[in-house]
Amino acid sequence: VRELMSLMLKASSQPMPLSHNILPRVLSFYHHWKKIYGPTFLVWFGPTPRLAVSDPDLIREIFTSKSKFYEKNESHPLIRKLEGDGLLSLQGEKWAHHRKIITPNFHMENLKLLIPVMGKSVSDMMDKWEAMSGAGEVEIDVSDWFQTLTEDIITRTAFGSGYEDGKAIFRLQTQQEVFAAEAFQKVFIPGYRFLPTKDNTTSWKLDKEVKKSLIKLIERQKRNSCLEISNIGHPKDLLGLMIKAGTKEIRSSSPTPPIWAVTVNDIVEECKTFFFAGKQTTSNLLTWTTILLAMHPEWQQLAREEVVKVCGARDIPTKDDVTKLKTLSMILNESLRLYPPVIATIRKAKIDVELGSYKIPHGTEVLIPIIAVHHDPLLWGNDVNEFNPTRFADGVSRASKHPMAFIPFGLGARTCIGQNLAILQAKLAIAIILRRFSFDLSPRYKHAPTVVMLLHPQYGAPINFRCIKDS
Ligand code: HEM
Repeated sequence: VRELMSLMLKASSQPMPLSHNILPRVLSFYHHWKKIYGPTFLVWFGPTPRLAVSDPDLIREIFTSKSKFYEKNESHPLIRKLEGDGLLSLQGEKWAHHRKIITPNFHMENLKLLIPVMGKSVSDMMDKWEAMSGAGEVEIDVSDWFQTLTEDIITRTAFGSGYEDGKAIFRLQTQQEVFAAEAFQKVFIPGYRFLPTKDNTTSWKLDKEVKKSLIKLIERQKRNSCLEISNIGHPKDLLGLMIKAGTKEIRSSSPTPPIWAVTVNDIVEECKTFFFAGKQTTSNLLTWTTILLAMHPEWQQLAREEVVKVCGARDIPTKDDVTKLKTLSMILNESLRLYPPVIATIRKAKIDVELGSYKIPHGTEVLIPIIAVHHDPLLWGNDVNEFNPTRFADGVSRASKHPMAFIPFGLGARTCIGQNLAILQAKLAIAIILRRFSFDLSPRYKHAPTVVMLLHPQYGAPINFRCIKDS
């Protein structure tokens, strides 16, 4: 404790430089402890000890060769209510079954079908910005706009033709997030979340409404056999895929369906999960990338020149254009390295297991501090805190001294299922913005990365935009 206090005092007396001071205090503690105790050490989170592992060889073991000895640890019931009982938290056979069903939704051929729709959502947003800027400059807090954009896109991916209803349903879900106001009491006072407080009763009511509306939508899709089949032979949205799998399983497995068979309730939970997992993560990536490009006009200009060269007169890049935007890929990777929206993940040992030279008793929680790995000078060099997209010029695996040093989407079987969608959305959105606007930081911008579940700018991201479409 004494060590922690003296470090906090020392850190708080130092001025914070503007550039990339990501959680500088937390990271400085982490690197300090790492120097003393090595890349693997115990950290106490309240009463719970967790083994922090930042050695990439051990991380590889946990996520790949020895992954069967670990499971995801259970989220707090409050978080689980927000994230849904879907892929993020399921375990075992049921998880594997859902993952298999949902994976085709994220195949490139399927995502490709979404490009015109995504491009239209971004273009509509640009038209609004253009109207706001008139002939001059306008300050826009991009974090709010990007949230609306990603919400739109994830709702289309999940609901396809039922998009309008899906959007209305998720408005309710978002209100529910607002009513997480008493989160502190709910987490720390045992039984608090069962008390009929105003906040709790509103939250229960909204939860029921979300469920009821989703069930109504699912039943309607089933009745209309509205499982729109894409030209690659399966329903082209998450809802369609799950309804099809569930109907087949229940029909073919009478009298008792297996425990992992997809029920209406499972579909409801997966829809909630996708909205939760896909919305803010991608909008955070977009926000940090825009901030970085506003801070680094030379990279902004390079990326813009590339977009103009690759896309020619096309306002919305095609799928082929997107794959050719190499500079933009490098920039997005560097943004994910410096500001990974998910800063850490946790696994729990299911049995006693060896990890490198450590013997881990079963039940031990293992913390993988993604952000600390991304900021390790031994892996990335002395310019680790600098924005330098060039390090990704030869691809992700050659960017650092270890192929496992870049893990913004996790690793192994439980790696992020939506990563292709996230990158595709981000590339499209940034390419379209670069084409139509030049931008820099508003004098009101304060660099203060903070974590509330995800890593985001504490005081928003006000950026000044100038229209350049016709120049
Ligand atoms: C899992 C990050 C976008 C859906 C994960 C994990 C990470 C991650 C680190 C692994 C967690 C763990 O191992 O404990 C991100 C980032 C994103 C992003 C940084 C954007 C920049 C998305 C999108 C979707 C999505 C767009 C959905 C449309 C999921 C799901 C899982 C997951 C369902 C759980 C997969 C499983 O366990 O089978 N994500 N994600 N994510 N992500 Fe993402």
